[in-house]
Amino acid sequence: MDMFVMEGPEPVLTRADLIADPSLASYEKAGGYAGLRRALSGLSPADVIEEVKASGLRGRGGSGFPTALKWEKVAGHRVPVRYVVANGSEGEPGSHKDHFLISRSPHQILEGMILAAYAVGASQGHLFVKESFPEGIRILQKARQEAHSAGLLGENILGSSFSLDIEIFVGPAAYIAGEETALLEALEGRPPRPRPKPPFYPTEMGLFKKPTVVNNVETYAHVARILSDGPARFRERGTPKSPGTMIFSVSGSVVRPVLVELPLGFPLRRLLEEYAGGPLPGETFQCFFTGGPSFGILPAKDIDTPLEYDALRAKGTGLGSAGIIVLGSGDCPVATSRDFALFYEKGSCGQCPPCRLGTESLHGLLESIESGEGSPETIERIRKVAEMIKGRGNCGLITASAYMVQSLLQHFPALVEGHLEKDSRRSAGERVPSWHYDHFVG
Ligand SMILES: Cc1cc2nc3c(=O)[nH]c(=O)nc-3n(C[C@H](O)[C@H](O)[C@H](O)COP(=O)(O)O)c2cc1C
Repeated sequence: MDMFVMEGPEPVLTRADLIADPSLASYEKAGGYAGLRRALSGLSPADVIEEVKASGLRGRGGSGFPTALKWEKVAGHRVPVRYVVANGSEGEPGSHKDHFLISRSPHQILEGMILAAYAVGASQGHLFVKESFPEGIRILQKARQEAHSAGLLGENILGSSFSLDIEIFVGPAAYIAGEETALLEALEGRPPRPRPKPPFYPTEMGLFKKPTVVNNVETYAHVARILSDGPARFRERGTPKSPGTMIFSVSGSVVRPVLVELPLGFPLRRLLEEYAGGPLPGETFQCFFTGGPSFGILPAKDIDTPLEYDALRAKGTGLGSAGIIVLGSGDCPVATSRDFALFYEKGSCGQCPPCRLGTESLHGLLESIESGEGSPETIERIRKVAEMIKGRGNCGLITASAYMVQSLLQHFPALVEGHLEKDSRRSAGERVPSWHYDHFVG
């Protein structure tokens, strides 16, 4: 594994001293649990929320929702029982950061959860990790035990009147289990199926119908540093509307697929050239899925776009959980989109008919185009199905699949039409980028 210490401001989540060893001793040696000690010895729950609010932290699980807003809602309920939940599911193709954080800095996630629970008045937390990630489960269970033995979890944490336990919940590996209400269903012992919303979001009716904070594991890891270093320090990196750093996963057709923590707003071109080694030899960049497939395509001409929520949204795509999949000139966007369409078809839980039928239909239509069996009507049908299904399920999966194919038609109309001709190259299989990474830069 490649290790590279960044110049300039030190990374927030991925310091080499934490990475070497996921133990409590090494986390504390690097300043871990200082934020919790500070909060429990002198800050009220409302002060903690204020600090998170002042930091401008936005959730790192996909939507970029302001973290403090969620917490305020949960803290504001009269219901005495509340929960905090950490989403460590990480199913988006191209995203690898959460598994990395779980493996390398589990205590930072726990510390953020404890702070959240203190802030919103919860006495029970649940950290969701997939059954397909046994190493992560082991690491988290060990970290939990260490935290209990050190008085950082359990009754009267660090001698205060605040008590909390956190369950390491081993849940289904399905993509849909990462959707927050499906995850809550799984925590309650049912199959992971998203709940309808509105009217009720987890902040009002979450786990066991109680107000619940659900945050991504990286979001919690940032909270720990915000409370130890202060919100102003957090804001020194990133942009005014997207402050702080994020762990970017870069995979696909680059010289060096990589995981690297950088300030939000970092230009995509610099990330790809300075950290991922540029395009494969003899190739140029063709396009990017900057937020995994769920936010659609960013064409190569927009390579100078800053990697943050609003700039990417203005280009018709998004940051998501910062899993960047790169297509080189040797990759086929149509074949890649067909594979993503299959991913959505298989990932749909099937409870909403428009999603079950729509994702299946989009995959079938793309498959026929990719294999040279399509006609102009096939393209028209894709347009219609995508338009028809958008926003019509209990969760965002259906809309993500629609955006993905719409952005293919928008950015590569000639290529899609070209696929209507039979081509022996295609029947032999066109190249699609691999969604994995093999280096860490921290
Ligand atoms: C189909 C689908 C899958 C999702 N998968 C994940 C996931 O694996 N991890 C995650 O943190 N959020 C995932 N989300 C987003 C969550 O629903 C939720 O917004 C997030 O956990 C909130 O945390 P944050 O505010 O800290 O970002 C998914 C959403 C959808 C629609």
